[in-house]
Amino acid sequence: MLSTLRLQFRFLAPLLLTLAAAAFLALPLLDNLTLRWFSRDLSLRGTLVTNTLSDSLVGALQEGNDARVQALFTRTVQDERLVALAACAPGGELLQRSAAYPGDLTCAGAAELANLPLPKLQLAGGTVHVGMHALELGGAHVADLVLLHDLSFVERRSEDTQKYLIAFMVALGAVIAVITVVVAQLSWRGWVKGARALLRGEGLLTPLMQNNHDLGPLADDFRDRLRDLEDAYRRSLDRDDQWDPERLRALLHAQLRGDELIVVSNREPYIHETGPDGVHFKRPASGLVTAVEPVMRACSGTWIAHGSGSADRSVVDKHDRVMVPPGSEEYTLRRIWLTPEEEQGYYYGFANEGLWPLCHVAHVRPVFRESDWEAYRRVNERFADAVVAEARSADPVVLVQDYHFALLPALIRQRLPRATILTFWHIPWPNPESFSICPWRTELLEGLLGSTILGFHTRFHCKNFIETVDRNLEARTEHEHSTVTINKQTTLVESYPISIAWPSDTQRAAWPSVADCRSAVRHRLGLGPAHKLAVGVDRFDYTKGILERIHAVERMLEKHPSWVGEFSLVQVAAPSRSDLDEYKAFQQRIHQVVGRVNARFGSPGYQAIYLLAEHHEHDAVTELYRAAEVCMVTSLHDGMNLVCKEFVAARDDEQGVMILSRFAGAAAELNEALIVNPYHVEESADALYRAITMPAAEQRERMANLRMTVRDFNVYRWAGRMLADAARWRLRERIEARMLRHNGD
Ligand code: G6P
Repeated sequence: MLSTLRLQFRFLAPLLLTLAAAAFLALPLLDNLTLRWFSRDLSLRGTLVTNTLSDSLVGALQEGNDARVQALFTRTVQDERLVALAACAPGGELLQRSAAYPGDLTCAGAAELANLPLPKLQLAGGTVHVGMHALELGGAHVADLVLLHDLSFVERRSEDTQKYLIAFMVALGAVIAVITVVVAQLSWRGWVKGARALLRGEGLLTPLMQNNHDLGPLADDFRDRLRDLEDAYRRSLDRDDQWDPERLRALLHAQLRGDELIVVSNREPYIHETGPDGVHFKRPASGLVTAVEPVMRACSGTWIAHGSGSADRSVVDKHDRVMVPPGSEEYTLRRIWLTPEEEQGYYYGFANEGLWPLCHVAHVRPVFRESDWEAYRRVNERFADAVVAEARSADPVVLVQDYHFALLPALIRQRLPRATILTFWHIPWPNPESFSICPWRTELLEGLLGSTILGFHTRFHCKNFIETVDRNLEARTEHEHSTVTINKQTTLVESYPISIAWPSDTQRAAWPSVADCRSAVRHRLGLGPAHKLAVGVDRFDYTKGILERIHAVERMLEKHPSWVGEFSLVQVAAPSRSDLDEYKAFQQRIHQVVGRVNARFGSPGYQAIYLLAEHHEHDAVTELYRAAEVCMVTSLHDGMNLVCKEFVAARDDEQGVMILSRFAGAAAELNEALIVNPYHVEESADALYRAITMPAAEQRERMANLRMTVRDFNVYRWAGRMLADAARWRLRERIEARMLRHNGD
């Protein structure tokens, strides 16, 4: 503070001195200038007086009438400015003068003075202006009139002006000084805060924005807009950049030097079960698995997951490992066995009764139990030990998946400080108020901040996460770079919109034709070839908006009865978490509502809704996608939703309409879908009607664009972006470590 004052004084003192000097230099100049202006005025005035007097004076002079001349002089000098007058003969002889005319001022002297640029003369009574004007008669020069005008009023005015000028300069100096002090104080505080923030590693703007509560939200908005623009720009640039398994592999080898990948998730990619024909495997209904499996196939490595299948133990080796996919064996699946209590507390309890409803706005209350939390912590520890056991180096790249493992990143970091930990949160992240419901929120946040990179599907979820950290932890957030630092560990919080693997030519060649899919599905359902179908494919979960979808179908049939008997919704609902009361109640409710709607519109051989509440393998789902006119995704809240992307990928005939909830992360990318608010039944019903009546040309146009987006922004790009960011981070850390070692030597 003292130094600020000193600084201001150092600045102000020369400024005030300069102002004073300017004033003192300007004053004589100003004096001189005003004197000249007045002198010019007085010369003009003299001309005027001469002209007025001319006739009478010349007459009196020629007549030699001295009394008349004096009378004229006396009358004229009554003018307060005119001090004295004299008349001179053309030869220079003084003819007549008024009383106050100085005796020693000759006509020649007066003529000399009058010719000066500033014709003035100092008399005892003050300064006078000397003017000499010719008196003429009929063009002939007969005499000269000398006029002495008082100049003391000019001096008086000049003194006044000087006073005003000095007062003005003083006032100006004072105003400048006040402004300088205020500005210096403000900017000094700003810079001090900025410098402190910089030393703490924060951005310069942060403290200013934090201080200014009005600007804060504006700055946040501005930042978000910038980031959105950045995303759009990156997407437009990236578009030509094709990503496929080879490119991802190449990136892993080139940028991560072929480092090993370890994936951790709760759900395993292949579930072995015992059936009537012995052991078989199935692929779970999980967006996470759909996305991550192709990445693992491309990169190889180890996937650690809960072994939940009834025959899982029978196929693993003594280290609980099995090579998958069955038949092609491209990577290792390491299974972790959970006790029923662990599964109950960690999976059903904390993850699916607590975190799942906490993160989804689906109006289901989260339940948090101490015992579930304990189980969750224990299971996270067990998976952390498994990561250490599977790691072949001290710095593996570990991909931690989803809300089942919020504590895992920090636990891995404790055990393997040099690991690169990429955590991806597959579900939405709620706003800070909602998240504060969780009694163990700080532990969860600290756990996640053990990650090197923490990924979400959308920028909005990143923003929610960073705000949640701001509210709950003493961490340093750097909004410009989207990083959070706590306990010297910095985490990059980024959005990586997840996707699917675009089907290869070989895969596509194996698909039955659209016509075959259409007739097979219609035949199975006992429907005619022209019957229109919408399809919904979901886990049987309350977040998926299945009830709202059924209501939309009901309303559409109500509004357009001609479609009764001509249109149906085929709803695949894969059983999910059915041990939980909330799920049981929801599934029962859906069965009831479907029964009611079918009773209302159905007829022998026709149902408005076909509810297929069983697991469907991928091929069966693809067949449905290709058979349907419409796909409905009406999630009430969804991280991304990959069903819509799978539908688009399956439609190589460029037909079919996508109806998509605006509350699914995918809505930000799939602009050519019919975007709906699933809570607005009327809107969804109208969208459904529009979809089943949409001309083929419009379908083609929309579908072609959707396909381009999903093909270009596929899951290899998702993984590639995360791994490339990780590679950059690793490189930076290695260089820093080397520098530290070097400095220590
Ligand atoms: C969501 C979650 C996944 C989960 C999937 C299936 O997509 O983000 O982590 O695997 O649901 O749920 P489930 O509980 O059956 O694994």
